[in-house]
Amino acid sequence: MLEAARRLVIPSARSDVPPFMVMDVMAAAARIEAAGGRVIHLEVGQPAAPAPSSAIAAARAALTSGRLGYTETLGIPSLRARIARHYAETRGVPVDPARIVVTTGSSAGFILAFLALFEPSDRVAVAVPGYPPYRHILKALGCEPAAIQTTQATRWAITPEMLITVHRRTPLKGVLVASPANPTGTMMTAQALRDLIVAAQGEGIRFISDEIYHGLDYAFAAETAARLSDNVVILNSMSKYFCMTGWRVGWMVVPDALVRPIDRLQGNLAISVPTLSQIAAEAAFDGRAEMETVKHGYEENRRILIDGLPKVGLDKFLPVDGAFYLYADVSRFSSDSFEFAKRMLEETHVAATPGVDFDPIDGSKFVRFSYAGSAAEMHEAVERIGKWLAVI
Ligand SMILES: Cc1ncc(COP(=O)(O)O)c(C=O)c1O
Repeated sequence: MLEAARRLVIPSARSDVPPFMVMDVMAAAARIEAAGGRVIHLEVGQPAAPAPSSAIAAARAALTSGRLGYTETLGIPSLRARIARHYAETRGVPVDPARIVVTTGSSAGFILAFLALFEPSDRVAVAVPGYPPYRHILKALGCEPAAIQTTQATRWAITPEMLITVHRRTPLKGVLVASPANPTGTMMTAQALRDLIVAAQGEGIRFISDEIYHGLDYAFAAETAARLSDNVVILNSMSKYFCMTGWRVGWMVVPDALVRPIDRLQGNLAISVPTLSQIAAEAAFDGRAEMETVKHGYEENRRILIDGLPKVGLDKFLPVDGAFYLYADVSRFSSDSFEFAKRMLEETHVAATPGVDFDPIDGSKFVRFSYAGSAAEMHEAVERIGKWLAVI
């Protein structure tokens, strides 16, 4: 009987999504640290700085008041209004608060977006290299990710031509882009984003814009799809610019027709987003001056890596436009970026993420460095990597 019961518990095929290899790097780094080593963490895709002090103070006050109940499913109305105001203040774009949905990080936003927009077996285009959970969430929901291999020539972005070629071969229902992107840190120009939205909508392909790294742009200003169309789904988050990864708050801007379906989905899947985090998020928008200081730190880190890495032999990397990533070609030293990152960690105690997580084909040539840490760490990392590359 027991054996029969055990045999019943077979994981579903849809749960068979690949793990994040960066977790292996982090586990190896933790082992080095447990043995007394000092690791410089350039593998983590999260800010080292804390949330804005306004957010922390608001959360403290809310905790003291005691009761934290459920909130409205679409989010606390004053937070939705504050997010809408953020678009007006930072972009000069009017957004109706009624179209804003608060989510548990943008990660939950993807689930809601995909459920609201697609049927099982629908094909959705994503860029490769790209953030792996796009592909994995789509697969878990029964949709089919259509990976479009991007190239240097198009600043690692999907172009209208690429989209239409793939669509003509096997029809697409959606396309998802991120600018600034992870892992590449590259951005689409406003014109490129506009052209892609026009091309997608002309072909009946639904458009999803992941804007989680907005606010963290250095080369030029990142364009929001909110300016370009009311009929796209936008995802954003408090995680990166506002340094609030662990608070798990994000938001979506959705077309009118999707508000009620997403309300129903989120109500059933989660009831509401954690109340304490929503309260903190609303207050975080008053902490932008603090976050700009953090951003200036990233700018300095970016400068240190752009200057320093070529001097030690890593002179081929993608345009370092935004977010806090530098995607470096390490093929001069190794044809296996996983082994390269593993050895670099063991021998220099500098952790970075192998590109294979983001690009199953060409990723073996690339390593992603995150510059979300401190300037001192960036200097020391370049020095350690330089000494190591000189002898391998
Ligand atoms: C491109 C991109 N989108 C979405 C996410 C998900 O972030 P969160 O769920 O914290 O909003 C991440 C996290 O690293 C990311 O890099």
